[in-house]
Amino acid sequence: MKNIGRWLRSMLLTAAALSTALGVQARTLDEIRKDGKIIVATEGQFPPFNFFQGPKLSGFEVDLAELVAKKMGLTIEWKALGFDALLAGLRQDRWDLVIASHGITEERAKAVTFTQPHYCSGGQVVTMNPAIKTSGDLAGKVVAVQTGTTYLESVKKLPGIKEMKNFPKDTDARSALLGGRVDAWVTDRFAVKLALASAPNAGMHAGDVIFVEQIAAAVAKGNSTLAAGYSKALAEVMADGSYAALSAKYFGEDVRCK
Ligand code: ARG
Repeated sequence: MKNIGRWLRSMLLTAAALSTALGVQARTLDEIRKDGKIIVATEGQFPPFNFFQGPKLSGFEVDLAELVAKKMGLTIEWKALGFDALLAGLRQDRWDLVIASHGITEERAKAVTFTQPHYCSGGQVVTMNPAIKTSGDLAGKVVAVQTGTTYLESVKKLPGIKEMKNFPKDTDARSALLGGRVDAWVTDRFAVKLALASAPNAGMHAGDVIFVEQIAAAVAKGNSTLAAGYSKALAEVMADGSYAALSAKYFGEDVRCK
């Protein structure tokens, strides 16, 4: 009995030493506070949420994260990476938090811990042909979606889709639609609003919102101190009017979950 206890203890110590050596231990809120700097990753290719304005990372989520970090007494070191790399990097402790319009899903929640949501939205159909509008209309059609997104997951489930074309960037899915290489593009409804407003003569038509989702930031699985600290600061930003002002600036409406 005593031996088993000793063995178990040494196994646990080895596991702890190993994860420290590999640097895979997520930083707690206290550790980040001591450092003063939080490392936040986003994509930078998903306007109006996160995108580059020339060399400058901007967008609703970038500005919002800055407001939240300020409430937490932290400064942000930004990283911009491909959408596919973002959640995986949390597990490898390459950054502390991800904000890149991730919908909260059961599947993702197995791998990461979500904060409270910072907006509510949905996936919407966009076409060049106004006769294609509903999820049913997508039967027999070729649909463009960004790889790794909830749009892909939801379109995949629709009966009779002819083909799904995946693109590493959502803006490339849009180009495929504009270039006539696909029949439809499914993306965030606010991204649709912007795409239509910035190219009013391109011939794009907005169809139905085919599912709704809550969008949140994510931290490493089980990093509950950081998730709670972030969510608390987010609630403060939502209460003091700064969220409302930011949302009005980007969307002309308040996009928080109601
Ligand atoms: N809301 C969708 C999802 O949860 C799309 C997110 C796309 N984000 C991005 N930065 N491209 O998968």
